[in-house]
Amino acid sequence: MNTISASDFGNDFKWGVAQAAFQTEGHSYSDGKTDSIWDVFQYKKGAIKTGENASKACNFYELYPEDIALTKNLNFDTFAFSLSWPRILPQGIGQINSKGLDYYDRIIDNCLSKNITPWLTLYHWDLPQILQQKKGWANRDVLHWFGEFANICSLKFGDRVKNWKVLNEPSAFCGFGYMTGEHAPGIKNLFHFLAASHHANLCQGIGANIIRKNVKNSYVGTGLATFQVEPKNNKWYNIGATERIEATINKMYIEPLVGLGYPYKDFPAMKLIENYIKPEDEKNIKVSFDYIGIQYYCRLIGKFSLLPPIAFADEVPAKNRNVPMNNMGFEIYPEGFYNVLKKYNSYPNINEIIVSENGICLDDKIENGNINDEVRIKFFQDYLNQMLRAKNEGVNIKGYFCWTLTDNFEWWEGFKARFGLVYVNHQTQERIIKKSGLWFKDFLK
Ligand code: BGC
Repeated sequence: MNTISASDFGNDFKWGVAQAAFQTEGHSYSDGKTDSIWDVFQYKKGAIKTGENASKACNFYELYPEDIALTKNLNFDTFAFSLSWPRILPQGIGQINSKGLDYYDRIIDNCLSKNITPWLTLYHWDLPQILQQKKGWANRDVLHWFGEFANICSLKFGDRVKNWKVLNEPSAFCGFGYMTGEHAPGIKNLFHFLAASHHANLCQGIGANIIRKNVKNSYVGTGLATFQVEPKNNKWYNIGATERIEATINKMYIEPLVGLGYPYKDFPAMKLIENYIKPEDEKNIKVSFDYIGIQYYCRLIGKFSLLPPIAFADEVPAKNRNVPMNNMGFEIYPEGFYNVLKKYNSYPNINEIIVSENGICLDDKIENGNINDEVRIKFFQDYLNQMLRAKNEGVNIKGYFCWTLTDNFEWWEGFKARFGLVYVNHQTQERIIKKSGLWFKDFLK
């Protein structure tokens, strides 16, 4: 492994930390906020593996000045965070909650006062529950609901925020939320999943157009979950199964955006999505983003399986493959990051790439007041090396955001999966910079 420095990536390269509202803010009902689907889902029996909830999370609602100061202290120049839709529109649409807007105003102004660039994600999974009562993302009206939300936010913040990410990982919130039911709103319904996916894909264009109309000199993209996917071996049935996996988790969310349509060739049953496609969608679904946000965590190995039906494909879990893993069981495979960057860069109509999430969760322990997370340091060194390799081969990467600043609420894993550069005691809200945080500070010096 080569020793690299931040300057190898060029002076205009953006280095940031990323986080999401539900995972960090807490204060679920303060100042007029209402339920999001996660506020409801997290209390369902068995929904969160640890039985925890995010009602306090990292108390970013009050502690944002401290966390933005930490971002500055660690020498990052960008702070990427998401807006809570039900804080801003407690009824999902209609009446605006000015206290919700004021809260995000304070965060933005705080960033700017420290010379940190704020980078806004419109949607990171916390749909207003009231809209889920009308089927949420599976209802085509979401195109209007989301458009209204995007319009309000971009009009309000666009004078100071130029960098926008429309959605965070539609594959995850549609797949886990509407198909496997492991995430909010906990639906297991193929048709809701297909409808939700198509609507999410369309919302990215809708969001981008609205932001561009309202924000002068905007820089707009969207964040996609990306995986390196390989078959278990070269048996035809494993290869076919792997193509169906890749069609569902990668291609279904990038190929329509770049004008290639849905990947029916790899997965013919996906044609069922046509039930939800209107003639005008064909032109609206294609979006020329300023950047594509690549969010990379792991490699998946695919194989034929009788379950689930329709897909007839499953993954071979990392724990059965004797490979290094994070504490959620994701394989650590830096070369996959390089491969994904090359692959997405080779799609047509890709302008620039921002790595909008990448990181590792570990069982961090405090020893004598310190967290010596050497494994995380090695992770970043290896992944940044692979990113540099891709960049040097012409992949147009303009920035890298660590997931994440503070240990936060990791969805159905609860607080067990610690991804932060900063350790958080969720009882006292004390923050301790981990060794990896100090490593980054030095790296970015
Ligand atoms: C999500 C984050 C999550 C991270 C780690 C990403 O897919 O956007 O919210 O915490 O993965 O699992």
